[in-house]
Amino acid sequence: MKAVAILVAAGRGERMGADRPKAFLDLAGQPLVLRAARAFEAAPSVEGIVAVVPEAEVEGASALLQPVAGLLAVVPGGARRQDSVLEGLKQVPSGFDGVVLVHDAARPLVDTPLIECVVRGAGEVGAALPVLPLVDTVKRVENDTVVETLDRRELAAAQTPQGFRLEVLASAYEAAIRDRVTVTDEAMAVERAGGRVKAVPGSPGNRKITTPEDLAWAEGMVRGAVPA
Ligand code: C5P
Repeated sequence: MKAVAILVAAGRGERMGADRPKAFLDLAGQPLVLRAARAFEAAPSVEGIVAVVPEAEVEGASALLQPVAGLLAVVPGGARRQDSVLEGLKQVPSGFDGVVLVHDAARPLVDTPLIECVVRGAGEVGAALPVLPLVDTVKRVENDTVVETLDRRELAAAQTPQGFRLEVLASAYEAAIRDRVTVTDEAMAVERAGGRVKAVPGSPGNRKITTPEDLAWAEGMVRGAVPA
């Protein structure tokens, strides 16, 4: 099964508190979005990569990502994540009948085994995403009061890449647009359209870089993995 990866990098990354969009911050000598692109370039099933970036970064990102094999397009994103994904979907070559992977550029340490596992799962059932079990007890809190304790055995944290056969994602998105629904990830669009989403084991190394602490953690991972 062949795959095209859409890297979404058009968020502002406000929780990082930096003066540049998060995906363009440096991680041990390489911007996050370039590291993520390199990870997909290395995965055997991935034959094309689309990057979705802030309007002001299109030119810079095009130059940055130009050496990445299989780069199809660098396009501006939209206001919401789902708008950015839609812009990326428009760049998938017509007639493509494989798996579309949507990945947060803010998860630069994704690796080939995880990517291939998602591609296989999506190829089999139409949609797949990596999940991690929750380690903390989870509460529902209203204002400053705990109102419920959830059964964490029924819960999981969703990672990316989320993979879909193209027609599954396209029709789920069409329905979400028609119904004017905001989805927080692509799988949610498929779930509400009644499609099955397979959960495959995620990886702690595939952490989303959200805060300066996450970036420091990732620096340690990269530097530990590649001794100077
Ligand atoms: O904000 P958060 O970290 O959840 O964003 C997840 C990913 O979605 C990031 O890689 C971010 O750049 C991307 N995104 C986007 N367009 C938006 C909002 C978020 O591409 N409008």
